[in-house]
Amino acid sequence: MPEEFYFAVSECVNLIGYSSRMKQIFNPHNRVFRRRCNGIGLVAALMTLVPGLFAEVPPSPGSQVVRLDTAHFGLVFLVGIDGRLYQQPVGDRGAKGKPPREDEAYPQAGDGYIWEPALQAVHADGNTSTALLFKDVTRTNETADCEVVRIKLCDPAYPFETTLCFRTHREQDVVEQWTEILHHESGAVTLERMASTALLLPATNIYLTHFFGGWAKEMLSPITEAITPGLKVLDSKLGTRAEQFRNSSFVLSLDGAPQENAGRVLAGSLAWSGSFQCAFEGFGSGVRALCGVNPFASAYHLEPGQVFTTPKMIWVWSANGLGDMSRKFHRWARDFGVRDGHKTRTVLLNNWETTGFNFDFNRITGFFDPAREIGAELFLLDDGWFGNKHPRLDTHAGLGDWEPNRQRLPGGLAPLAAEAGKRGLKFGIWLEPEMVNPQSELFERHPDWVIAQPKRKHELRREQMVLDLTRPAVREFEWQVISNTLGVPGISYAKWDCNRYLTQPGSSWLAPDRQSHLMTDYVNALYALMDKTAQTFPGTELMLCSGGGARADYGALKYFHEFWPSDNTDPVIRVPMQWDYSYFFPVLSLASHVTHWGERPLHFACSVAMSARFGMDLDLAKLSPEDKAVCAGAISAYKHIREVTLLGDLYRLETPHGTTRGALNFVAEDRARAVVFVFQLKDGEALPVRPQGLDPEKHYSIHELNPAPGRAALPQEGRTFTGTELMRDGVSPSCAKALEACVIELAPETK
Ligand code: GLA
Repeated sequence: MPEEFYFAVSECVNLIGYSSRMKQIFNPHNRVFRRRCNGIGLVAALMTLVPGLFAEVPPSPGSQVVRLDTAHFGLVFLVGIDGRLYQQPVGDRGAKGKPPREDEAYPQAGDGYIWEPALQAVHADGNTSTALLFKDVTRTNETADCEVVRIKLCDPAYPFETTLCFRTHREQDVVEQWTEILHHESGAVTLERMASTALLLPATNIYLTHFFGGWAKEMLSPITEAITPGLKVLDSKLGTRAEQFRNSSFVLSLDGAPQENAGRVLAGSLAWSGSFQCAFEGFGSGVRALCGVNPFASAYHLEPGQVFTTPKMIWVWSANGLGDMSRKFHRWARDFGVRDGHKTRTVLLNNWETTGFNFDFNRITGFFDPAREIGAELFLLDDGWFGNKHPRLDTHAGLGDWEPNRQRLPGGLAPLAAEAGKRGLKFGIWLEPEMVNPQSELFERHPDWVIAQPKRKHELRREQMVLDLTRPAVREFEWQVISNTLGVPGISYAKWDCNRYLTQPGSSWLAPDRQSHLMTDYVNALYALMDKTAQTFPGTELMLCSGGGARADYGALKYFHEFWPSDNTDPVIRVPMQWDYSYFFPVLSLASHVTHWGERPLHFACSVAMSARFGMDLDLAKLSPEDKAVCAGAISAYKHIREVTLLGDLYRLETPHGTTRGALNFVAEDRARAVVFVFQLKDGEALPVRPQGLDPEKHYSIHELNPAPGRAALPQEGRTFTGTELMRDGVSPSCAKALEACVIELAPETK
């Protein structure tokens, strides 16, 4: 028999129990044991000759098949005769013989596995190998739709265990996956790699779609490429607001390049706001997706009894292309991914683009009447309201000193919020609690609170540094800032900003041999702070912001209502950008503000913002009466349709990437109403746009909302058609020239 066989049988015995006497008998080097194994081997070899037998019948005592099922998706794990856990490649439903070693479900380094491992650990005694054998599986039904499956794997030679955890959402074809690692060795175990997932896919025809960007061009460059043999790594080493250049969300397609309405696709999104790694390895007979915290400079010394819980990976499946995949993703996100996912969002007016840092009480209260007149519902006061010894007059000073500036706002924030309230406006505030300017009282008092490397010159970005959240005093300080600010009477909204990432990841709080914990501990401390904020202020709406790269991930988003996709609010850029974000995030979470970026016609800018979470950042007093009417019309139209756009299903109809126009439509859950958006990016023709997802039998009447002044009415304005007719023949929009847009309501027929 091959050498591995004796070891495999020996390991299988470990599953049953391992006393020191048994250790002698079942020693793979023991000759008697080897003779007995030859007999077992013959039986096992005969079993694998019977086709399909392996998949159906547990091959040895204690072995089994573990299935995870959603409505249209499934993962199948097999316990091999060697006791290890194997995964049937995604989408491969055929029964298999003995799985090859490279199909291991969560491969470990150092004990025979030769490709990129999911787990690499150095045990307390210095052993650099881990062997994980199946121990047991538990299944818990959390709700009728949702099951948690936990597969426990143990190392026969060490008190070291790893549990692969899954939460399935049946209807939405979503699987959340994470891993828990625990040990009881004599000292710390160093985790060098600890992936959340190591999903296996078939070897051929797998395509990866991912997104590259940067400040003001986030998500703008979708890239689709075949996965070939080798390792393709998408990662971030930035520590916090880690999505500056790329997002931790991607699509794997199993039938070649992805299509909107056909083909098998699997979206992956890592719920983690810190350094991440999504690695895709083609190793000849398969493709493996390894995603989780970035192992780069992040070794974690896990103490006995301590559990390391990896970030969650969210997988969303569809056999019908990207559109169906996104709609499922959005439904899951409204239920679990964002706060208040079943409530519409207010119309917000922000002052950042208008005033920058230059304002005082009178200037801000001067915005309230025009805001109310135009239909806004909330005023958001941006950066610049704090700092006294070092007033926040620009980006150089004040961060960390969160007392309202006494000259600008003599009575503090409460009188401002009260003035807004008198006009029926809610009031929101900007905060950047994680940061400090060296020019601040906070830094003067606590220079050691920043993340920095000893003996290196501080590297400032946007003139600021990141506070070290691993330090308990910093955690307490930031909580005081948040609770004092959000506790001001009348404040019901906050924009939580984050304007730099880590470039010198050192902590004067962590011990020298624990520096590599910073990347993990920072993010977990941040989440604890965000969680406390959400729990303490349940009625306060929260925007997750970062000027550059967004903080668009489900790790942070679950504490927030929305995120700021980009500082770039040029609607010509926002059309493709919002399109790309919508693969993974529902539009109710995508803040889209009307500004003067790009100097586009306001009707176009308003129409684009109306297709997501609408806001404005304009000096309303300076608008011409015509532009003011356009904005007021857009706000009233947004209020009329927001139940459909924010809470309904999205259909992406015509891609704006490299074309003359982009088009999408939303359909209400009961399919009684729909809204179609057409954005003309270059001159073209008013060709009909064909909505999707309508009820074929229902009748819909056509109305253009907030039509652009001076443009002819829609050819079909006021007419009624069935869903079948509309989806077959389309609706002719009123726009054909560059920078024209058209928003069409398909309203229930009025009898
Ligand atoms: C970041 C945000 C902006 C604004 C500024 C304030 O850049 O993205 O919207 O809040 O900070 O400094």
